Amino acid sequence: MVAPPTEHEILDVNRRYHDVAAGSYDAKWGISFGEIGHQQVLGKLTKLLGPRPGPFAESLEIGAGTGYFSLNLLQTGVVRHATCTDISPGMLATLERNAEMLGLDVSTAACDAAELPFEDESFDLVLGHAVLHHLPDLPRAFAEFARVLRPGGTLFFAGEPSRSGDKLAAFPKGAALRVAPLWRRALGLAPAPHDDADPEDHALEAVVDVHAFVPSDLERHAAGAGFGGVRVQGEELLANWFGWFNRTLESSADPRSIPGPWIQYAYRGYIALQRVDRLLLEPRLPPRIFYNLMVAARKPG
Ligand SMILES: C[S@@+](CC[C@H](N)C(=O)[O-])C[C@H]1O[C@@H](n2cnc3c(N)ncnc32)[C@H](O)[C@@H]1O
Repeated sequence: MVAPPTEHEILDVNRRYHDVAAGSYDAKWGISFGEIGHQQVLGKLTKLLGPRPGPFAESLEIGAGTGYFSLNLLQTGVVRHATCTDISPGMLATLERNAEMLGLDVSTAACDAAELPFEDESFDLVLGHAVLHHLPDLPRAFAEFARVLRPGGTLFFAGEPSRSGDKLAAFPKGAALRVAPLWRRALGLAPAPHDDADPEDHALEAVVDVHAFVPSDLERHAAGAGFGGVRVQGEELLANWFGWFNRTLESSADPRSIPGPWIQYAYRGYIALQRVDRLLLEPRLPPRIFYNLMVAARKPG
């Protein structure tokens, strides 16, 4: 039997894995710092913080990656000054380049979420996107979020994989793998020049992805660190199935051979289904069945 990775190993593999991913991260995930990015990020924030979130004078992002959330929030005026942290210096280097290109001023610090190098009560908003599931010590990390927030400050995390969403995503991926040769033939596409699914990548993913959550996990961690007004919501179901199906098809073909109209169709379809999820499914179905979970809370005081 293989021993589970230690906390130190999880942190170390996360740093190395994301350092390598940093160069191609924005292209791989279609990260936008324009109108689309503003709408996506604001769309998530308003689901839990109401129609006009902020403005927050000082924000701290945990696992900020290449800047998806903080740089879009700065541009939309929701945040006045942003501090971006990440365990991967490579990700932060890309974030700094992105900020410079956009003419934005940010502070950065390479550190672990569970050991933040900031004074008590320094921030009005602590936020993150797709990062909690990488953290080996969630109680310590949430205690740090509470420590650095000012009384009355806001906590917001989104993009965390739900347990059932993780399982459900296997279906569109499996279906897409089966029809990929047919799809390539129909569109006259060349196969991908190399197998994207490097076995070493899979092994590392198993170490960096530590958790998939049920809503009560997030509620428990936030309440356990002393936060009040804890709210958890689920988002994206149809949009994610559609997205995973298309992403899996696309990864089977040479990216240079995928025609523009297909990319437009995949993008517009995803946005349309996000709207269906938001308007019809999210208000009616329990959070746990959605692909992503988000949590917001307030530090008392
Ligand atoms: C899936 S990426 C998300 C990046 C960005 N938030 C986004 O939405 O594009 C996860 C990020 O969390 C960072 N991370 C992983 N473990 C961490 C830890 N213990 N402390 C701080 N950041 C961490 C990774 O380096 C990576 O940049």
